[in-house]
Amino acid sequence: MTKINENFLKLQAGYLFPEVARRVRAYQAKNPEAKIISLGIGDVTQPLPPAIIEAMQKAVEDMAGANTFRGYGPEQGYDFLIEAIIENDFKSRGVDLDKSEVFISDGAKCDTANIQEMFGLDNIVAVTDPVYPVYVDSSVMAGRTGQANEKGQYDKIVYMPCTAENNFIPEPPTTPVDIIYLCFPNNPTGAAAAKETLSEWVDFARRTGAIILFDAAYEAFITNPDIPHSIYEIDGAKEVAIEFRSFSKTAGFTGVRCAFTVVPRQLTAAASNGRAVEVNPLWNRRHSTKFNGASYVSQAGAAAVYTPEGRKQTRQIIDIYMANAALIRKSLTKLGYKAYGGVNAPYIWVKTPAGVGSWDFFDQLLQKANVVGTPGAGFGPAGEGYFRLTAFATPANVKEAMQRIANSV
Ligand code: MLT
Repeated sequence: MTKINENFLKLQAGYLFPEVARRVRAYQAKNPEAKIISLGIGDVTQPLPPAIIEAMQKAVEDMAGANTFRGYGPEQGYDFLIEAIIENDFKSRGVDLDKSEVFISDGAKCDTANIQEMFGLDNIVAVTDPVYPVYVDSSVMAGRTGQANEKGQYDKIVYMPCTAENNFIPEPPTTPVDIIYLCFPNNPTGAAAAKETLSEWVDFARRTGAIILFDAAYEAFITNPDIPHSIYEIDGAKEVAIEFRSFSKTAGFTGVRCAFTVVPRQLTAAASNGRAVEVNPLWNRRHSTKFNGASYVSQAGAAAVYTPEGRKQTRQIIDIYMANAALIRKSLTKLGYKAYGGVNAPYIWVKTPAGVGSWDFFDQLLQKANVVGTPGAGFGPAGEGYFRLTAFATPANVKEAMQRIANSV
């Protein structure tokens, strides 16, 4: 009989966001009149801006013409998008990249999970706690971990606690690790990493031979000019870091799907005979074997993000979300809650009242205010006692949600 991949049986719970959605559906079924506002999953609500729509419409028209129709594109992505990314996202920040180092994909979520295929199963993975659950769950599915303990932490994963005491910025671990997932600006805590912090991590990786998987999906939300947008702004980072970017939150592409991953040529990992092997050609091999490229229409839309109009219009949308974030922070602080993040990130990380667990707080808010957030415990044990709210709802809904929360306490 066919054997199942038993690693999947080690997974502790359903994936966090479907679990939240399931509980919300159950509540709505019992309370059909409730007008629920979601500040839960980080899904955008503003429509795509005109410059992107026009570029996508033009791309659709290309598909209708015999001479402009496109079939399979390059698996790595179209040059027109890769060139725009290199010029605008990196060169403008003093980072030179070659076209062969940028891989267009349909999402940073899948890339942050799939990249693990490049590395042997005996590598030790380090993650922050709390953490975006994909890094952990995909490590479990791949067979990199043992079983979970009573706290839900898996054997063989190194957890780096992020607490109010360390400003939600972890220290490099004291035990050996090989693969380090970092996400800055952070999902879920909203913390952003200063240049000195990233330099410390790059030095650590260079000293110990580890590789950093740097998720920068929220870089567009940085407001402090001193915070780096890319880990490659740090000297030596190209030797030790892979960076993931996404158009999902930056440009409203959660439904369109387009992202990219940078795998520098200098980055190597060791073969069993000690030989340093370049990761880039292997990722290229994997990408061309298992992926046929993001759609032409999506890539045309993504390229429009870098036009002067596209830049202006996407900036206006980000400003709307950051005004939401500021309102959430201000309103909750006024009510006596301790709120973190929301300044360089679209997430607000709220301390739940003393003695109230994060799932209990979820239930209270759902029942008393019909507002949905994400329980901090869903991001890891150190998230217990916290609650995440996103700034991606419409301004009217954020305002109403804050009023309802104020009326419910
Ligand atoms: C979140 O809410 O954490 C994000 O929407 C998840 C994601 O980007 O996959």
